[in-house]
Amino acid sequence: MKLAVSGKGGVGKTTLTSLLAYAFVSRGYGVLAIDADPSPCLADALGFPKELVHDMVPIAKMDALIAERTGAKPGTYGGMFKMNPKVDDIPDRFSATHRGIKLLELGAVEHGGSGCICAESVLLKQLVSQVLLQRNEVVLMDMYAGVEHLGRATSDMVDAMLIAAEPTARSLGTAAQIKQLATDLRIQTLYLVGTKVASQADRDFIAENSPGLQVIGYISADPAVLVADREHKPVYDLAPKLVKESEAILDALTKK
Ligand SMILES: Nc1ncnc2c1ncn2[C@@H]1O[C@H](COP(=O)(O)OP(=O)(O)O)[C@@H](O)[C@H]1O
Ligand SMILES: [Mg+2]
Repeated sequence: MKLAVSGKGGVGKTTLTSLLAYAFVSRGYGVLAIDADPSPCLADALGFPKELVHDMVPIAKMDALIAERTGAKPGTYGGMFKMNPKVDDIPDRFSATHRGIKLLELGAVEHGGSGCICAESVLLKQLVSQVLLQRNEVVLMDMYAGVEHLGRATSDMVDAMLIAAEPTARSLGTAAQIKQLATDLRIQTLYLVGTKVASQADRDFIAENSPGLQVIGYISADPAVLVADREHKPVYDLAPKLVKESEAILDALTKK
């Protein structure tokens, strides 16, 4: 199963992705987690040891690798470079693994202008395509609000995109925009996940203001998320209620 998690900044995408990663591992699945946020923090949410996090370099920052694979210096535009660079060894070579979760950080592409084609973005798109097409594990992509790492050609390999939204009008507005982008990319299956809900009124607000998306589950607001952050521990270890809620989402996804 290949899942993308998207939504407005701060709604709880990374928290949700980390909970799902552990939920899948505990059910015996292999998991490849992809951090596609320009400022990566999934490693921390997953409780990766500091030494491992420290040693990780986002793929977009690996200038020598990008130059070697694309034939072009990162940051250069136009010119000649390979549009289908070799990437199949990258997930295993440049990921870190902790408690059965393999993690790959993509990093940020510095865009020189809209619609530009640069070496980094060519490599990252090819890498995401390769991961979606070839990997046998459950793939979980923590996407940031945009969907730019997904190419048109491979976005239909995403089994489902989960759009996270808090019980706020703004995050539901962003969810509507993401729905449009994802629909343009022909991602077939989109669900809303209500996050940081503290009451039935919160759930109702999300369900009633969903931009035409089925709500596949809710993650409660829980002070244990803050404790986990401060102690560099996975939420999964500290918030039994959220574990149950993420397992319910996993069940709903795998039943489809
Ligand atoms: N279920 C939750 N309950 C309480 N706080 C949460 C919850 N989910 C996320 N948070 C808090 O919200 C902030 C953003 O969460 P994060 O998962 O990093 O969001 P995103 O990846 O969407 O930016 C963090 O400070 C986190 O501790
Ligand atoms: Mg995040």
